[in-house]
Amino acid sequence: MIQTIGVLTSGGDAPGMNAAIRAVVRAGCANGLRVMGIQRGFQGLIDGEIKELTARDVSDTLQRGGTFLQSARCKAFMEEAGIVRAIEVARVFGIDAVVVIGGDGSFRGARDMSRLGMTAVGIPGTIDNDINCTEYTIGYDTALNTAMDAIDKIRDTISSHQRCSIVEVMGRGAGHIALSLSIANGAEAVIVPEKDFSIDEDVIKPIFACRNRGKKHYIIILAEGVGKAEEIKAAIHEKTGIEARISVLGYIQRGGSPTARDRMEASRMGAHAVEILLRGCDSRIVALQNGEITDIPIEEALNMKKSISESDLALTRILST
Ligand code: F6P
Repeated sequence: MIQTIGVLTSGGDAPGMNAAIRAVVRAGCANGLRVMGIQRGFQGLIDGEIKELTARDVSDTLQRGGTFLQSARCKAFMEEAGIVRAIEVARVFGIDAVVVIGGDGSFRGARDMSRLGMTAVGIPGTIDNDINCTEYTIGYDTALNTAMDAIDKIRDTISSHQRCSIVEVMGRGAGHIALSLSIANGAEAVIVPEKDFSIDEDVIKPIFACRNRGKKHYIIILAEGVGKAEEIKAAIHEKTGIEARISVLGYIQRGGSPTARDRMEASRMGAHAVEILLRGCDSRIVALQNGEITDIPIEEALNMKKSISESDLALTRILST
């Protein structure tokens, strides 16, 4: 029987992580569990940066961006010795299960802990929305809305100057953020790492096609995993004569107060993680499937790369005309 759970955030922070921590703490307390907050992810677990969180300790956190538990990328967790040490420290604090909020790297850590004897479950928290088997990851909606506002502002300027803007957005090796924004911002082209591309076919040709239809400014959304922003900029200038500017949105996409959607999904997911533990399950992550909160084995989420939406790609092409 689980009596004390630890909760940590790991990897890149994402808006809504605080809402998820709050839900784990309050759902845990409501079910008679003790909840321990672990600072700085797996590194803080190894270093024993752990203290009890009561329902009151998570007041005034729901609306805050980032993660008040802080996060870290932990090299020691790549080695079995680091994980064994973390489990020993967790036991000293009386922890018998850990809730890990993070992305795929963090879930590997959770799976490894569970293989070595510590019950662990995961909550998908990353702006990238790149976890297989879940339609949603905490932070995605806020990141999209923040980037969408920024690109709307860029549009005002490129429209005034009849220029082209190459906007590089985050997503690591995935193009979900870029693709969603290409629809939300009405981009002329989108380039994602999941698809091979040629500058002539996928950038220059759409620019000429749009120019022939009377367009005077162009937005190209580029997922960071592709790189090549400078190459694309130079080709646009050389082949079309249009002036291009690169804007890298960077960390602005990771910060800020979470949207209603992120607060709600994070709250549901946090409470569900506690439910998984109360059922006596191990090595599972919370997932959103067909709009419903459920849970799946961590291994299933890690085994396959999430595919990009072909219909959204086709939609961007149609609507950019
Ligand atoms: O996973 C979230 C993310 O913001 C990615 O989109 C990005 O590639 C990466 O983290 C950046 O990582 P770091 O926090 O090390 O700058």
